[in-house]
Amino acid sequence: MNDRMTTPWGELALTRFPEDPRDRLRAWDASDEYLLRHLAEREVPLSGTVVVVGDRWGALVTALAAHGPLQITDSYLAQEATRANLARRGAEPGTVPLLTTQDVPPERIDVLLVRVPKSLALLEDQLLRLAPAVHEGTVVVGTGMVKEIHTSTLQLFERILGPTRTSLAEKKARLIFCTPEPSVEPPENPWPYAYDLPNGIGAVSGRTVVNHAGVFCADRLDIGTRFFLGHLPGGKGPRRVVDLGCGNGVVGTAVALADPEAEVLFVDESFQAVASAEATYKANGVPGHAEFRVGDGLAGVPAGSVDLVLNNPPFHSHQATTDATAWRMFTGARRALRPGGELWVIGNRHLGYHVKLRRLFGNSQLVASDSKFVVLKAVKK
Ligand SMILES: C[S@@+](CC[C@H](N)C(=O)[O-])C[C@H]1O[C@@H](n2cnc3c(N)ncnc32)[C@H](O)[C@@H]1O
Repeated sequence: MNDRMTTPWGELALTRFPEDPRDRLRAWDASDEYLLRHLAEREVPLSGTVVVVGDRWGALVTALAAHGPLQITDSYLAQEATRANLARRGAEPGTVPLLTTQDVPPERIDVLLVRVPKSLALLEDQLLRLAPAVHEGTVVVGTGMVKEIHTSTLQLFERILGPTRTSLAEKKARLIFCTPEPSVEPPENPWPYAYDLPNGIGAVSGRTVVNHAGVFCADRLDIGTRFFLGHLPGGKGPRRVVDLGCGNGVVGTAVALADPEAEVLFVDESFQAVASAEATYKANGVPGHAEFRVGDGLAGVPAGSVDLVLNNPPFHSHQATTDATAWRMFTGARRALRPGGELWVIGNRHLGYHVKLRRLFGNSQLVASDSKFVVLKAVKK
């Protein structure tokens, strides 16, 4: 695989995270190239505070490292990739501050570069959070693949910052040019968004779910998650449970409510998700112990330390091919579970997770199914 990106700032060796030699996907795309080319050709002054939002694998900040940009991302995987890519480039640690979407943004931004995220809600939230730091002279340039930039995307820039136009498309990528306008009054930030669950869904009936922008199914309960909530394992007592890929934390919170002695670890690679899970847990005054961790699956969880893993694997993600993520999650669960411990998985029927579970665990039991979903259980022998 060609992992070298040619940029006006030199050739960069870039990889995704976690590094996987079978991964054929590059750590940058034509929208990163287009933006960097534009900055160099138009000699855009990269002075003052340069902020890069949504850099997928760190290609943008790695190219611009000499200008001391600051990265803001929702993704732990993106942050880890950026760390490795910067180190490979020889950038001194700390020259590119790595902030998360949950951190306090800088007070003043002179150049704002936005890699448009898949989630319009996340873009809305980020632009609203950054708007107070943007001034009349801030250079604002967005970038994305043509299929990711919609009228609604441009309207967000317009509504929050000021007049916006797009470039011609090049290699199916497009740039967004926005001129901050002090007279624009950004609307109030609707995020985080909380809703109450309807009755009839087990331990979480009527409970509040808090969602930060960009979280999976942030405006309503996902139908798959709902099906999972109706078929969670019973059992009580002191046990260590992991809500793996916790999103807004509704699954782990249901377990904690039903079994106050359970210790629940909520893990997600999204900073927005882990903040949501913590907020959901707190909003419901759940008794018991919980831990909230941003990370890559079960990495860092000691082998043989967990009694139960609950998992609704991602089925589309900008960060990795879904199949690979589900496989990594199941492999991690097998390692983290104690003998006799169980992995419970919800998935669309057509995804065929039972095949993977059988290969890894030597068993897979169908707990429940409907026309769309299956809940599967695998026991660590
Ligand atoms: C289908 S959503 C499930 C969310 C929640 N459990 C639910 O059922 O509503 C999958 C979640 O996995 C997370 N995820 C994706 N890759 C991950 C990884 N490598 N490690 C941890 N979480 C990951 C996503 O951010 C997302 O929140």
